Amino acid sequence: MAPERRPLIAGNWKMYKTRPETAAFCAAFLPLVAGVEGRDVVLCPPAVCLETALAATRGAGVGVGAQTMHFAAEGAYTGEIAPRMLAELGVSHVILGHSERRQYFAENDADLARKVRAALDAGFTPILCCGETLEEREAGRTEAKVGGQLDADLAEVDPAELPAVTVAYEPIWAIGTGRTATPETAQETVAFIRRRLRERFGAAADRVRILYGGSVKAANIDALMVQPDIDGVLVGGASLEAQEFARIVRFVEPA
Ligand code: PGA
Repeated sequence: MAPERRPLIAGNWKMYKTRPETAAFCAAFLPLVAGVEGRDVVLCPPAVCLETALAATRGAGVGVGAQTMHFAAEGAYTGEIAPRMLAELGVSHVILGHSERRQYFAENDADLARKVRAALDAGFTPILCCGETLEEREAGRTEAKVGGQLDADLAEVDPAELPAVTVAYEPIWAIGTGRTATPETAQETVAFIRRRLRERFGAAADRVRILYGGSVKAANIDALMVQPDIDGVLVGGASLEAQEFARIVRFVEPA
């Protein structure tokens, strides 16, 4: 965490929670984080719960984001959701390129470059995910994989726009496995990401928020947020429970 970058704590609910469950979560969660300052908080529920989450969080200083979107303004893309549909709802963020989207839904870098562009054009903060598999890490290919994803996915972004992008480093081996990267390992790769962005975009890289994701929980949040380049977290499982996620939001700042 660095003072020039405001921390961002985002919850990725994946395919969990109905509308009543979304409303119940917000009713329990919002009082627990009321008055917490100096950090941004975003909930990313399933698409059918976005409107419920937006209504429940109105005026509470908590943002609502989508988990994916299409890049086209509209069209014959059965099952997909267009940027302007999300904009009309009032969504502020969109997760792009989550490893589950890449793995199970064939989301590729060429599509992601267009999606990042479309998200910026729609006025959203894209939360662009990148990360390596265990096999890639063990083969020493972490930087090649992550660097390649960023080069491709940010191909249509100008330096002036870069600070509007948030990057989430999520090692695939740490997602939903209970196996968190140590804070030092996470810091190391996040610092690499910032260096890579600096090479390409210059000083704008120092204003990009880079999150860590992968088995983040109340028990490890404080140690992660102490790391100088980690500006926040993208939380899956632990964002589903109000008490646990509130504790993550209330991470303790280093003295
Ligand atoms: P996890 O998921 O916190 O459940 O590991 C993180 C993510 O996939 O964004």
